[in-house]
Amino acid sequence: MSAGDGASTTAWARGLGLAAPVVCAPMGGVAGGALAAAVSLAGGLGTIGMGSAGSVPALERELAARETALAHAGTDPAASPFGIGLVAWGIARDPALLERALAAGPTLVSVSFGEWGAPDPGAAWIPAVHGIGALAVTQAATVAEARAAADAGVDAVVARGREGGGHGDHREPRDALLAEVRAAVGIPVLAAGAVAGAADLARVLDAGAAAAWVGTAFAACTEALTPAAAREVLFASRGEETLVSRVYDVALGRPWPARFPERLIRTPFVDRWHGREDALAADEAARAEFRAAAAAGDYRVVPVDAGTGVDALTEERSAAEVLAALTGR
Ligand SMILES: Cc1cc2nc3c(=O)[nH]c(=O)nc-3n(C[C@H](O)[C@H](O)[C@H](O)COP(=O)(O)O)c2cc1C
Repeated sequence: MSAGDGASTTAWARGLGLAAPVVCAPMGGVAGGALAAAVSLAGGLGTIGMGSAGSVPALERELAARETALAHAGTDPAASPFGIGLVAWGIARDPALLERALAAGPTLVSVSFGEWGAPDPGAAWIPAVHGIGALAVTQAATVAEARAAADAGVDAVVARGREGGGHGDHREPRDALLAEVRAAVGIPVLAAGAVAGAADLARVLDAGAAAAWVGTAFAACTEALTPAAAREVLFASRGEETLVSRVYDVALGRPWPARFPERLIRTPFVDRWHGREDALAADEAARAEFRAAAAAGDYRVVPVDAGTGVDALTEERSAAEVLAALTGR
């Protein structure tokens, strides 16, 4: 750490031309083009996230939103770094999504939540990402996964701790996983999971992270796609109210593999069905109730994804304000 000027930076961040060693995590339905532009303009690396609802038209909409936001700021889109985050099983179903992402010329492409060693999609995306001169990155929940990713040729791996919001394989706490993954691989390691304030960022940088991969802290930003009612839930919730569950996926029949449940803020509906997902899958009335609530944006029923760092969210802030709070500037 360097004293006096807030948080230190890292060689990895400097190499990407970033002022701050912070990547805004790809978050489907949250991290769109406006947020990606705002984070990058503020000195971090913004990303566009394509989750289970990802599609080529959705990606094109967010790429256009990024360009519009940068144009308003008087910045040439080609001069502003950004990333695109995809899910492995999503590009296996729709390979055009990866092709469209590569055509956009991102600085970084992440593909997470796949099975290393599996032929489809396996690691075929990595040479494709390298082919456009971008960095290939993935999230890992275990040392074995991080090693497999490094062996397959990723340029950096995100050690994603169990504290993290949204989908993932929630196992080890962030700091323990970061230390183990750093000891196991010879590539830069980013840290994810409840990096919500300056102390968290300083802690992971001191532990040797190349950058922090921050989701929840940016989820209620002015520039995020998050609906107003969902932001209110984020401001009112605490980390202890989060739960790792498949209820949302089962209720909507979303095709997330069972080994990647999501950390979300509990609602009475989640409490009623958590641990009884098979019964929920068979209960058409309950699922219809959930679908209606989702269509209406009723967050008393529908849970909002968040990590345990949600405590730090108390009011709407711009991405620049969140980044300033993280870096202590
Ligand atoms: C609302 C939300 C949506 C997410 N969607 C995605 C996604 O589409 N793709 C992905 O790779 N990760 C996704 N994630 C996980 C993030 O990449 C990251 O692992 C996580 O946000 C880090 O923990 P934090 O939320 O405590 O900062 C999502 C996270 C959140 C909170």
